[in-house]
Amino acid sequence: MTISILGGGQLGRMLALAAYPLGERVVLLDPNPESCGGHVAPLVVGRWQDPGPLAELSRRGDVVTFEFENVPDEAARFLADRVDVAPPPEALWVAQDRLREKQLFTELDIPTGPYAPAATRAELAEAVAHTGLPAVVKTRRFGYDGKGQHVVRTPADVEAAWLALGAAPLLVEAFVPFAFEVSAIAARGRDGAVARYPLVDNVHRGGILRESRPASDRVTSAHEREAAALMDRLLERLDYVGVCTVEFFVTDTGLLANEMAPRVHNSGHYSIDGAQTSQFENHVRAIVGLPLGDTRTLLPCVMFNCIGGMPDRAALCAIPGVRLHSYGKRGSTGRKIGHVTVLAADEAELAARVARVRPLIDAAADG
Ligand SMILES: Nc1ncnc2c1ncn2[C@@H]1O[C@H](COP(=O)(O)OP(=O)(O)OP(=O)(O)O)[C@@H](O)[C@H]1O
Ligand SMILES: [Mg+2]
Repeated sequence: MTISILGGGQLGRMLALAAYPLGERVVLLDPNPESCGGHVAPLVVGRWQDPGPLAELSRRGDVVTFEFENVPDEAARFLADRVDVAPPPEALWVAQDRLREKQLFTELDIPTGPYAPAATRAELAEAVAHTGLPAVVKTRRFGYDGKGQHVVRTPADVEAAWLALGAAPLLVEAFVPFAFEVSAIAARGRDGAVARYPLVDNVHRGGILRESRPASDRVTSAHEREAAALMDRLLERLDYVGVCTVEFFVTDTGLLANEMAPRVHNSGHYSIDGAQTSQFENHVRAIVGLPLGDTRTLLPCVMFNCIGGMPDRAALCAIPGVRLHSYGKRGSTGRKIGHVTVLAADEAELAARVARVRPLIDAAADG
């Protein structure tokens, strides 16, 4: 069959690369004619707001999915009236607004930090009074890679946050003093079967994900059980089909949900080279109704994001166990343009390889 994908960025590209070996075809929709997904699959260039391109996608695809959650609600409903959409549009509707996300976590008893919405200067001050200081002020919509966020440490910072972000509806969150961050990635099939990846240990810098590691030694089986139970509630409540990700803060008292993504996730990119079945393949399997694949990790591995610039390719390729994924995008400040997965037979060998790879990644990256 043909899978229509809303969004033609690197996630769409990697979904397409996983779909073809299964015998599926793909068509992408993105307003940017240079979208890197278009290098590997047919790309329809068009805006989400326009019924023309959406109608074309629903005509050409047997199932529609997303690699990008900021598709307008009306576009998702327009498609759902015409063709099978997976994950369900409700998941998209929830995940594109940080307030709805937090409200759903609260409804499902998924622990999350204190939060409050704010639409005016006065509400912002009240919201900060509710969460306490320090707090993180975020735009409810369209944030990614830490964009649209402002940390408030003193009452005097509230004004600066308002000036920076107040043009849009806001959400204030208490700053969570976490030990580290993990993501839970799971695929749910049309029959309700769930395939869960091990929790991934994620390191951010400047609000941008830099490194992800499955099977990290600071993740315990208690964390795994807790995340699985919380994730199950979310998947069932949304009658979810496809890959879903929840980012958690790990604290002394357990996991606190940060946000969800109704799609494959950057922290799961290691799975292309490091897992029995990649998150991209499992998303495709789920939405076309195939049995889900084994999610176990094959070898110790780490994924590094390439931010702003690509590291030296020849130097990377000279290191054994290194898998390079360049998205074919132009480098610019803070932009994710590729990733590198390092694999090894054991942790000692992995550490030795990482010691060679990390300087190459850092030398090319900004920030
Ligand atoms: N309430 C908080 N307390 C402490 N740190 C936070 C908080 N909110 C965000 N951060 C830090 O900023 C990072 C990015 O925040 P968040 O996940 O909300 O933004 P995002 O822009 O959607 O990021 P991405 O798209 O990369 O997931 C988090 O992974 C975490 O490191
Ligand atoms: Mg995040």
